[in-house]
Amino acid sequence: MLLVMRLQITSAGMTDIHQVLADHHRYWGERDLRPLHLVALVQEFGETCLVARAGDGIHGYVLGFVTPTGTGYVHLIATRDDARGTGLGRRLYTEFADAAHRHGAQRLKAITSPGNTGSIAFHRRLGFDVQTVDDYNGPGRTMMVFRRALPFDVDLREPEPS
Ligand SMILES: CC(C)(COP(=O)(O)OP(=O)(O)OC[C@H]1O[C@@H](n2cnc3c(N)ncnc32)[C@H](O)[C@@H]1OP(=O)(O)O)[C@@H](O)C(=O)NCCC(=O)NCCS
Repeated sequence: MLLVMRLQITSAGMTDIHQVLADHHRYWGERDLRPLHLVALVQEFGETCLVARAGDGIHGYVLGFVTPTGTGYVHLIATRDDARGTGLGRRLYTEFADAAHRHGAQRLKAITSPGNTGSIAFHRRLGFDVQTVDDYNGPGRTMMVFRRALPFDVDLREPEPS
C-alpha cells in the first residue's frame, strides 16, 4: 500500500521546538545541537521559523531570521532521517526564502562545519556559493559559509540531454 502523507509547512511554535528537541537524534544523529535551538528565534522571528508536519509528526524544520541589512540567515535546517532525499529540504528553503524576501531579504546566508559534507553538497545543489572562512567561529575554528542571492526561483536542474 502506498501511503501519501500530506505535508504542511507552517510557522513553528514552542510546542514544535520541544517536539524537535525530544526527537533531536532523528534530525542530527550523534551531533548534539540542542543548545542552538534558541527559543528567542521562535518567539521573535515566527515568520521565518518554519516546520513541515504530517500526520506522524514533524518531518523537517528551518529556523532563521532576516538581518537589518537584508540577509535571510538560516540558523538551522534539518529533515527527519526518514524524510531525507524527498525534496523536503529544498521545499523548506524555498518557503524560508519566500518569507525572508517578503521581510526585505535580498540574499541568503548559512554556515556549517567543514566536516558536514552532506550540508555542503545540499547547499551547492541549491545554488549557494561555498567559501571556507578561517577563524569564523573564533581562533582556529574554520566554518563553511554559504551565500546566495534572492529570489530563489531559479531552476538549477541539469538540462535533459538532447
Ligand atoms: C541537509 C538536509 C537538510 C538535506 O535535506 P533533504 O530533505 O535530504 O534535501 P532534499 O531532498 O531537498 O535535497 C535537495 C537537493 O540536494 C541534494 N542533497 C541533499 N542532501 C545531500 C547529500 N547529503 N549529498 C549530496 N546531495 C545532497 C539532493 O540530491 C537534491 O538534489 P536534486 O535536486 O538534484 O535531487 C538533511 O540531510 C539533514 O537534515 N541533514 C542533517 C542536518 C544538517 O546537517 N543540516 C544542515 C546544517 S547547515
